[in-house]
Amino acid sequence: MNEVFSKNAFHDKHIIISGGAGDIGMEIANAFAKAGAKRIALLDIDARGMSEAANKLKKIGCTSVIECEVDLADENEIKEAINKLYHEYTDWNVLATTAGLFVGGPLTEIKGDDWDRLMAVNARAVFLLSRLVAEKMMILGQGKIIHIGSSATYFGTPRNGAYAASKVVINQLTQTMAVEWGPHNIQVNTICPTVAETKFLNYVSGDISHKKLRETLKDKMPLKRLLLPSDIAPLVLFLASDSAQFINGAIIPIDGGTRLT
Ligand SMILES: NC(=O)c1ccc[n+]([C@@H]2O[C@H](COP(=O)([O-])OP(=O)(O)OC[C@H]3O[C@@H](n4cnc5c(N)ncnc54)[C@H](O)[C@@H]3O)[C@@H](O)[C@H]2O)c1
Repeated sequence: MNEVFSKNAFHDKHIIISGGAGDIGMEIANAFAKAGAKRIALLDIDARGMSEAANKLKKIGCTSVIECEVDLADENEIKEAINKLYHEYTDWNVLATTAGLFVGGPLTEIKGDDWDRLMAVNARAVFLLSRLVAEKMMILGQGKIIHIGSSATYFGTPRNGAYAASKVVINQLTQTMAVEWGPHNIQVNTICPTVAETKFLNYVSGDISHKKLRETLKDKMPLKRLLLPSDIAPLVLFLASDSAQFINGAIIPIDGGTRLT
């Protein structure tokens, strides 16, 4: 990734990342570590992925990596994870919510259980996590919350309906969080990426091979390439930095202009 921040930019910032074992979450965690963050907490259901991510972070120089195995669909597990983090430390400055799952298919075929799980992980967990952390950030007098939404919320894309519905909740939450928590010096923003080159692509069902799918997607993009996690991480760092004090309640597309085509 481009080095937009100095090695010490985040040396005194403590970061919580949900979905920290995922491709985008891990890239964001690495970027924070490269910019000096010494304490990072990862929340994910994938314990093995988290432990790999933690090893990478330690090699970069992050001295304290906390791994919280949690099913974000479960409110009690979320509460336990956040209690554990705040039991160890009271000063968490940044929350990045990147955990998410995808269930595709035409609306006529989406099962009620899949709808519920999408809503629980992609929408409700973002609300619950943010609220618990924001309450503590209010005591700290400062906080930055960055959500990963989706550019699917801008369109009516076939086979994306349930996923997009779960992600659009984040956009509305962002705006309300921004106005309710802004007076406590907490800024809340959402980044909406287009399709990115991650294992998320594996979840896209259909009868075309990934190679063909990639070519089709690239062709639709003005920049003629797929988005990479390394395109997203610098924006997260910027929004988490002191340079972004007046950016609050923004829903920022990161799609190479694809929504305009
Ligand atoms: N990759 C894309 O094309 C793309 C595009 C737009 C938005 N997004 C969003 O970006 C975020 C990260 O996606 P990614 O591409 O890194 O995918 P990923 O699958 O690599 O990462 C998602 C992470 O969320 C975790 N997770 C899923 N369900 C969970 C649960 N119940 N409890 C705890 N953790 C859970 C997974 O274990 C995984 O580590 C997601 O919110 C996704 O919706 C991705």
